[in-house]
Amino acid sequence: MSNAPEFASQPKAAQGQKAAPVPPAAPQPGPKLRASNVNFYYGSFQALYDVSLDMLTNRVTALIGPSGCGKSTFLRNLNRINDTIRNSHMEGQILLDDEDVAAVDVTNLRRRVGMVFQRPNPFPKSIFDNVAYGLRINGMATRSDLRDKVERSLQRAALWDEVKDKLHDSAYALSGGQQQRLCIARALAVDPEVLLLDEPCSALDPIATAKIEELMFTLKDQCTMVIVTHNMQQAARVADFTGFFLMGRLIEYNLTDVIFRNPAKKETEDYITGRFG
Ligand SMILES: Nc1ncnc2c1ncn2[C@@H]1O[C@H](COP(=O)(O)OP(=O)(O)O)[C@@H](O)[C@H]1O
Ligand SMILES: [Mg+2]
Repeated sequence: MSNAPEFASQPKAAQGQKAAPVPPAAPQPGPKLRASNVNFYYGSFQALYDVSLDMLTNRVTALIGPSGCGKSTFLRNLNRINDTIRNSHMEGQILLDDEDVAAVDVTNLRRRVGMVFQRPNPFPKSIFDNVAYGLRINGMATRSDLRDKVERSLQRAALWDEVKDKLHDSAYALSGGQQQRLCIARALAVDPEVLLLDEPCSALDPIATAKIEELMFTLKDQCTMVIVTHNMQQAARVADFTGFFLMGRLIEYNLTDVIFRNPAKKETEDYITGRFG
């Protein structure tokens, strides 16, 4: 049985008349990623408690919650970046389509599930070579189509027009916002099915942030995205679904509209109204 919430969007009558009626939920696609009963430990410290969450195909799922509540830990389990942390371990299961990510070859998994971090982290290489990197190491381009694939990735990341005349300059010469779009282009180059974004805009100014958010809209038909953000306006703008974490637990998960307009749990309401966190 699905462990997905029902996404019933009719507000409950509880708590007075704060919510306007929400239209019935549209039919939703199936899950691309499905986490079931995930516990995660750093040594003896338990960072996640029994988290079950379906992230639907070609939808944006936002993870919100106060600092230290386990959002990054959860995200990093989805492509097994946590594997490299000594003495850590996960219990439970994460499926990508119907495959247990624990059983997928990790290089292949990271190609299918790309990641963008909080601080732009381009390689100390040219703009071109940053984007070509994954294509080269995965043997995904011939000499003749490499350039086209790099161009296409930069186009998809809405960076092409700004860099097309300086592809061989160092990536470090770009602004922070451009570097972050370059990192997105680098992730997109290998055609990931999922893109994980861990506070991708927290080091960016509002204009660069708006560009990344727009980009997320345009990528939605091709990619399933999971974004950690502590900016609730951002979650409300970009995400179809939102999950609220608190102290290692997923407290509530639903359509973004429902989470922000009519949350079922008091903890969620306290957080989104700023009474907490
Ligand atoms: N590498 C690590 N080793 C030990 N504890 C960690 C590590 N990374 C995170 N933690 C702890 O796990 C908890 C959740 O952290 P994190 O997932 O980074 O939260 P968030 O992304 O919501 O701010 C915090 O208590 C944090 O201190
Ligand atoms: Mg974090």
